[in-house]
Amino acid sequence: MKRITVIGSGYVGTAVACLLSTKNMVAVIDTDKEIIHKLSKQISHLDDPQIKKYLKKNKNNLKFSTELTSAISKTDLYILCLPTDFLVSKNEFDTKNLKSVISELTELDPKVPILIKSTVPMHFTDEMNKEFNRDDIVFSPEFLREGQALYDSFYPSRIIFGSKKPSLATKIASIFKEAAKNSPQVLFSSAAESESIKLFSNSYLAMRVAFFNELDSLCLSKSFDAKKIIEGVCSDARIGNEYNNPSFGFGGYCLPKDTKQLISQFKDIPNSLITSVIQSNEKRKKYISNKIIEKKPKNVGIYRLQMKEGSDNFKESSVINIIKKIKNHKIPIIIYEPLLRKQTFLNSKVMTNFTEFAASASIILANRYNEELNPYLEKTFTRDIFQEN
Ligand SMILES: NC(=O)c1ccc[n+]([C@@H]2O[C@H](COP(=O)([O-])OP(=O)(O)OC[C@H]3O[C@@H](n4cnc5c(N)ncnc54)[C@H](O)[C@@H]3O)[C@@H](O)[C@H]2O)c1
Repeated sequence: MKRITVIGSGYVGTAVACLLSTKNMVAVIDTDKEIIHKLSKQISHLDDPQIKKYLKKNKNNLKFSTELTSAISKTDLYILCLPTDFLVSKNEFDTKNLKSVISELTELDPKVPILIKSTVPMHFTDEMNKEFNRDDIVFSPEFLREGQALYDSFYPSRIIFGSKKPSLATKIASIFKEAAKNSPQVLFSSAAESESIKLFSNSYLAMRVAFFNELDSLCLSKSFDAKKIIEGVCSDARIGNEYNNPSFGFGGYCLPKDTKQLISQFKDIPNSLITSVIQSNEKRKKYISNKIIEKKPKNVGIYRLQMKEGSDNFKESSVINIIKKIKNHKIPIIIYEPLLRKQTFLNSKVMTNFTEFAASASIILANRYNEELNPYLEKTFTRDIFQEN
């Protein structure tokens, strides 16, 4: 049993903490008092049934605090799960927070290895090792999906570790492998290669979403049955029948920012594909908005702000962009989002009673379908053809 300190308790940190606390003692540090207060009472701040279950199940192996110093000298490994938002002004992820925590840990507890799970720019881990005169900062990309964060942690598609020290990477990998329930494949590489695997993986997913969304735009314009076309295309094993469900556009916390970060890494290296993925997504959102605007509805009801069924994260949700575009045409918007504890969002009314919402909306715009929409299908606009995330 190891003693592990996880810093940052969002989707990634909470999932990592629940996963590793099945076999280890885990301290979780977050600067957000409310999150720590809830977690200390085994209440999840995230809408994930598995996380809720494991917070209770593993409660004897989990400790929570807002103070980093509370874990110092008592830990074998630090795991950083801090946000890395994309800074448009720098055309790069904001890594200031990560850097300052690494600096603090180097001062307080210099002999304890650090594992970075946040998504970072290529070469960040090497730069940190150099800057702080260390060789034990390791990078491991995280691939979990919001809405099934803990399931993906217990059953990872693969686990990847990037480091200059193979023995350390192997030791850390064994902690994750032991906790997983599916004997995952373990891959090792340099830190910069592991960092690039994460950026390329998410950019590929964004590209695939953009591809099927463009296919769907053509189907909408030509009144083709998109389902038949996608099934026909995806019956080819080389293309595959997964991750092909149209939507209003990709969004969420990771795909938009990771794609932008990958573009910025190319600099002078010839490329055009990744840039056009972002452009394609913008065009898709405009196309969907125009489809609604041209119907000249009295008002538009937005059914949920989340990107995916089961997620409570609205960061960069594609529908937010669509709301703004529709509002520019002076069409009133009402929003049904039971997870939003506000009366208005983007100056539009938020309703928590579904029946009232559905009755008041001239058109219901649903990025993702739910069976409660069944009585209102005639006025519902969705491209959720396969009814899956
Ligand atoms: N959300 C996902 O699906 C996902 C998947 C894979 C990778 N990632 C990457 O993992 C990283 C974290 O993502 P997330 O979704 O968990 O982020 P998040 O914003 O949900 O959570 C980050 C947490 O860190 C806390 N925090 C910020 N600064 C802190 C500090 N100095 N000390 C302690 N706590 C601090 C915040 O209060 C917050 O609770 C990002 O780099 C993201 O790109 C996210």
